[in-house]
Amino acid sequence: MDDRFERYVTELFAAEDPILSKIRARHAAENLPAINVSPEEGKLLYVLLRAIQAKRVLEIGSLGGYSGVWLARALPAGGELTTIEKDHRHAKIARDAFDLARLHGRVQLIEGSALEVLPTLPPGFDAVFIDADKEPLPQYFEWGMKLLRRGGLLLCDNAFFHGAALDPNDRSGNAVGVRAFNELAAHDPRLVATIIPVRDGLVIGVKTRDSA
Ligand code: SAH
Ligand code: DHB
Ligand code: MG
Repeated sequence: MDDRFERYVTELFAAEDPILSKIRARHAAENLPAINVSPEEGKLLYVLLRAIQAKRVLEIGSLGGYSGVWLARALPAGGELTTIEKDHRHAKIARDAFDLARLHGRVQLIEGSALEVLPTLPPGFDAVFIDADKEPLPQYFEWGMKLLRRGGLLLCDNAFFHGAALDPNDRSGNAVGVRAFNELAAHDPRLVATIIPVRDGLVIGVKTRDSA
């Protein structure tokens, strides 16, 4: 999207409070990769979760907790965000972020590799936000479908992957993973989905059926 439009949306609808700004500053100070969601994407995730009155949400890929704060803030008292992170340093910074935002009671951070953690989780999530490594995206798709309740939202960041998703000649593992995920989201009979062109693209789908 044109940067001017993005700034307009962010300033009007997704202005950060001091806590989110602080979390972002810490992110930068710790030299975390600048691949967290943008404020406007964070606000979009927040609105979507509020719209379905989500109570149990799963995130794959916590990084420094920035998206997690947007997600957890959308939950009512007694709600819970489960977020998976394989990098110990990232996990520690994310935990600090949830503490700072006073959300630690609402967040369960599980340290580990997603494909090892996912089989241990009970199904019934209201939403699953996928934002980790891109090669296993087809596997994350299957896990998302398995763990979501009917009516739940499947959300996946980097649908365009900087344009690589649109380039069939890009045979890199990341591009192949993103394209495979998008194909599954488009055609799987259990899901009705589209892409919202926010930042690097957000796949959003509603699980309408438990089986094909
Ligand atoms: N959702 C975050 C950004 C996540 S960046 C935000 O918007 O703020 C991707 C994160 O996924 C990184 O922290 C990386 O360490 C983690 N990750 C990558 N592969 C993973 C895997 N297989 N299992 C769990 N976490 C993984
Ligand atoms: C990149 C961006 C992301 O949002 C992500 O989840 C992974 C990688 C990137 O710009 O490389
Ligand atoms: Mg991402």
